[in-house]
Amino acid sequence: MLEFDHVTFRYAKNMPVVLSDTSLKFGKGEFIAITGRNGSGKTTITRLLTGLEKPTKGRVLYEGKDITKEEASERSRFIGYVFQQPDRQMFMPTVREEIALGPYHQGKRGEELNRMVEKAMMETDTTALAEAYPRTLSRGDQQRVAIASALAMDTEYLILDEPTSGQDGHEKKMLMRLMESLQQRGITIILVTHDMDIVARDCTRVIVIASHKVA
Ligand SMILES: Nc1ncnc2c1ncn2[C@@H]1O[C@H](COP(=O)(O)OP(=O)(O)OP(=O)(O)O)[C@@H](O)[C@H]1O
Ligand SMILES: [Mg+2]
Repeated sequence: MLEFDHVTFRYAKNMPVVLSDTSLKFGKGEFIAITGRNGSGKTTITRLLTGLEKPTKGRVLYEGKDITKEEASERSRFIGYVFQQPDRQMFMPTVREEIALGPYHQGKRGEELNRMVEKAMMETDTTALAEAYPRTLSRGDQQRVAIASALAMDTEYLILDEPTSGQDGHEKKMLMRLMESLQQRGITIILVTHDMDIVARDCTRVIVIASHKVA
């Protein structure tokens, strides 16, 4: 379980409140949609969950433990994140090395590391891209590489920020099929989306953000 415990957040002292005294629970195995108007704070919520931002007030909990002070790099052992623009999270010269980066930092080497990378590529249908340069791939391919990176670290939570915006029907369907199969494997999916078809068809719960709160 991931939790916000009375979280209030503003980007800077003299800036308006984005999130006000909000408590939220993200349970194991759920497929949760976060929706709300432009600028309502959806991306901010994902950044607070991953540790890229820290609450102004309140706490973030993981399995009941206070992780408010844990950096994003530490939280990456259980939270995977697919950015709205995934090219911004690709740093390595090949897809294979990109996916290996996380488990490598966790201390995996040699055969074990190779196995984790191969398995993650199989699951996300990125094996054929293994030697490609990540930053020139299509957004859909980059998303699957980012998902593979999370799977190679055995992630428990996968957060995706508007992954289907600007994608055609086929790409969207492929991505949603992958999400469904990951949820069936017990991975908790947290999806920021405006797409009400996806919300209706795939999600077990919807969180609507309005006026700095859960509506
Ligand atoms: N780095 C930042 N510094 C200051 N203010 C920010 C920053 N990022 C976002 N904001 C402001 O915080 C509020 C919430 O932004 P956020 O990006 O979380 O909304 P969103 O719901 O993801 O919007 P969208 O649907 O457009 O992606 C907005 O008013 C936005 O202008
Ligand atoms: Mg956003």
